[in-house]
Amino acid sequence: MSGGSGSALYQDTGVLVRPRTLKNAPAPIRSRAQMMADAEATASRLQVFSRDEFMGRRFRYGSGEHVTVIGPTGYGKTQLLDELSDAVISPKLPQVVLAMKPRDKTMTATIRNLDLKKTKDWPPPPSFGRPRGWAVWPKHTFDPEVDDIHLREVFRRAILDSYKRGNRIVQADEFFGLVDLGLARHLVALWTRGRSMDVGLWGGTQKPTHIPLHAYSQASHLFLANDPTEAARKRFGEIGGVDPRIVEAAVRSLEKFQWLYIRREGARMCVVDK
Ligand SMILES: Nc1ncnc2c1ncn2[C@@H]1O[C@H](COP(=O)(O)OP(=O)(O)OP(=O)(O)O)[C@@H](O)[C@H]1O
Ligand SMILES: [Mg+2]
Repeated sequence: MSGGSGSALYQDTGVLVRPRTLKNAPAPIRSRAQMMADAEATASRLQVFSRDEFMGRRFRYGSGEHVTVIGPTGYGKTQLLDELSDAVISPKLPQVVLAMKPRDKTMTATIRNLDLKKTKDWPPPPSFGRPRGWAVWPKHTFDPEVDDIHLREVFRRAILDSYKRGNRIVQADEFFGLVDLGLARHLVALWTRGRSMDVGLWGGTQKPTHIPLHAYSQASHLFLANDPTEAARKRFGEIGGVDPRIVEAAVRSLEKFQWLYIRREGARMCVVDK
């Protein structure tokens, strides 16, 4: 992948837009091989932005928009979500992070880096000042039967309360964990109705086929890693307004820690460098 070119496919924001087609012009007949070659060519022209450039200038977030990060384990989902959060959250748009694991060094780092308040329960105890957000990290007894019920209840309250108050970002490091706790319906409610309440649902998954399709279809901002599984690639068709062949070609050429960014509005894409 290369830097920007003078191609008509680019706007001066540097991100790819869907090529304009002439109104009423008949679609040219193309073979499958030709279409794949076109997709490869388009993917190879995507611009690559450094993290700083992307976080500071290219990533434009509107409250209530959903963010989905999909990639295999160890590919940097959590780090990317932290960097995006750092660029966006504030006491005026705080984040509610749902922490699932009993012990989690990455979560401890997230709390420190983002300066979040830690709370075992929801609602959190009153505190001085308005924080940038909370990490909801319930106490574990290490009896799954007890913990699953307790976590579900605390997270359910945090999700519903966030939805009611509005102007929040709810974040789950792994969507599948919440689905597994029986909270799929709550996630779907946020994906489908959160936008109107200014509640954005952010999160990642390494199991794209185990979570609701809404993670693809409702996200305004999608970040995809080079996931070698066929099952993951099949879902590219769910990303509205974007040619799945371009997504597949672009994702295939990514290195570890690089992300394909898709902003659904306007069908724009670029690559975020490691
Ligand atoms: N852009 C990057 N450049 C170099 N190292 C990175 C980058 N992003 C993440 N890492 C490192 O890679 C490791 C895995 O990152 P991270 O925990 O964010 O991955 P993950 O996809 O969330 O993994 P998991 O699925 O296990 O939660 C960490 O040690 C992290 O510091
Ligand atoms: Mg992670």
